Order: sequence, then C-alpha cells, then structure tokens
Amino acid sequence: MTSRPVLAHTREELAGLLADARRSGLRVAFVPTMGALHEGHASLVRTARAVTDGPVVVSIFVNPMQFSPTEDLDRYPRTLEADLEVCAAEGVDIVFAPSVEEMYPGGFSHDSVHDGVTVAPGALATILDGESRPGHFDGVLTVVAKLFGLVRPDVAVFGEKDYQQLTLVRRMVRDLCMGIEIIGAETVREPDGLALSSRNRYLDAEQRGTAALLSKALRAAQERATYGVPAARWAAMSVLNVAPGLELDYLALTSPELGEAPETGEGRILVAARVGSTRLIDNMPIVFERSVPLAGTALAGSTTT
Ligand code: PAF
Repeated sequence: MTSRPVLAHTREELAGLLADARRSGLRVAFVPTMGALHEGHASLVRTARAVTDGPVVVSIFVNPMQFSPTEDLDRYPRTLEADLEVCAAEGVDIVFAPSVEEMYPGGFSHDSVHDGVTVAPGALATILDGESRPGHFDGVLTVVAKLFGLVRPDVAVFGEKDYQQLTLVRRMVRDLCMGIEIIGAETVREPDGLALSSRNRYLDAEQRGTAALLSKALRAAQERATYGVPAARWAAMSVLNVAPGLELDYLALTSPELGEAPETGEGRILVAARVGSTRLIDNMPIVFERSVPLAGTALAGSTTT
C-alpha cells in the first residue's frame, strides 16, 4: 500500500506541513528535483527515506535561472501526475511544487533576477559545465539556497550524476555555514551503462546507442588508469573519437574536488557531449596508480577537449 504525498504549492502550505515535524524534533530529509522523475530520482528518495523517520520532502521545480535564454527550458519535461506516483511508491511525505512566482516573487527574467540577492558560486563554477553554460551554477545554487531556506532540512540528497553541482552544493553549505548534511548518491545506470537522465527521453534509437558510449569511454579510462593520467585520457578518447554523431564538449580528469588530477591516487573523470541536440553528462571515480608509458601507444590526440 502506498499513500500519496501531500502536495504543497506555496511557502505557507509547506511551512504548515513541516511545523509539526519541527516541533517534534524529527529529522527532515530533502531531495530537490526538477521533476520528470525516473529511477535515478527514486534511488535519491530511498537514500533520504533511509536516513530519517521524519518527513521526506521532494521539491519539483524547473528553475528558469539555471537555463540560459538559448537553452531547453520550455521543452524540459513537466510530468507532475507521474512524479507524484513515483513519490508515493517511495514513501515521500511532502511534495513541494511551487510556481515561478512563488520562488521568484514578481516573476523571473534573466534581467530581473539581478534585482534580488543571488549566490555567487566562485571559480569552480566557471570550468567544465560552467564554462559551457555560463551562469548555470549561479542559478542552481541560488534556487537550492532558497529551497534550503524554505524546507530547512537536516539532510539533503543530491545525485553524483551532476558531480560539479554536488561539489558546489557541498561548498556552498560549508562556506555559507548552512549546517545541512549533504549526501551524494551513486548514479543509476541502464544495463548498457547509460546514466539515467530526464534528457534521455529526447534521444532516438540511434542516438541512444551513441549515448551509451559516454559511460563506455569512462570505464575504458578507469581500466587504463593503472598506467597514469595520459593513458586513461587516451583510452577514453579512443572510444569517443569513433562515436558517430557525438560532439564532445569536454573530457576532464581531475581530483575528487575537481582540481588538478593527482599522479597517483583517487580522482574523477567527467565527460559532456552533445548527441543530436541533447547535451549529456556523465562521470565516474577513477584511481590513478602510476605513470608508465604504454609500449607502442600513440598518446598524441589525447588532449582534453
Ligand atoms: O539537479 C537538479 O535537478 C537541479 O539542478 C536542482 C538541484 C533541483 C536545482 O534546480
């Protein structure tokens, strides 16, 4: 038996629903989303459900501030009824689905937001996805800060799939002393390795096959990382270079905090590419062991894009 979560559209409704839990001292767990929920989101909710006996809150809000005027805001899927079913199946207590006016009183336009206070995410937001999508992380951190202010969670769960976002949210919580525990949940994948994403629904059958090469490239790099950073990069590039219809945005090997990749030890490998008109991202942990040249391996052409 599953019971539907209570739906709040306004700040007041949300505050009313959370008041009892707060009085009782129950731990509030929070999963912010933009809706179009899939198994990846369901696993974030299960993580949240597992860390509290108190309320699990899911927000569903397609945040205009994190889309540039040329991006896919209008075509981003909005599937509230189906999302409520997913939330019911996973034991969510409260779904907060505010309007744009509720989150940005007076409405939103890319010019008007600068009348209000926003979060400046710092230099980490200008590399990787931030370089391709200027202003994206200002929008993400601003809306996450607003949502944290409204939900006031003890713990919040974010997917590792958006690894740069997760890293920046952790930094914001640390630097702005928000006192919220942030849990990073592992990426959920299709059997062929494709990371689940709301944008996968835009892919046709051929593009779907190409999209699976992103995770294949990351796995190839993981296997070669015993030979060091250049060899790992070369292994990934040799998969991506032959992918039909794939336009690479970046392939980056970094430290776990998205700094320079260490010669040995733990790191992260991240990729972003356009398949048709759909931009996809993926990343995995990677362990560099030592830098040994591979006999007969041409490392030329392995430059980071
Ligand atoms: O990851 C997402 O779905 C969004 O970036 C988030 C965190 C809900 C902010 O709009």
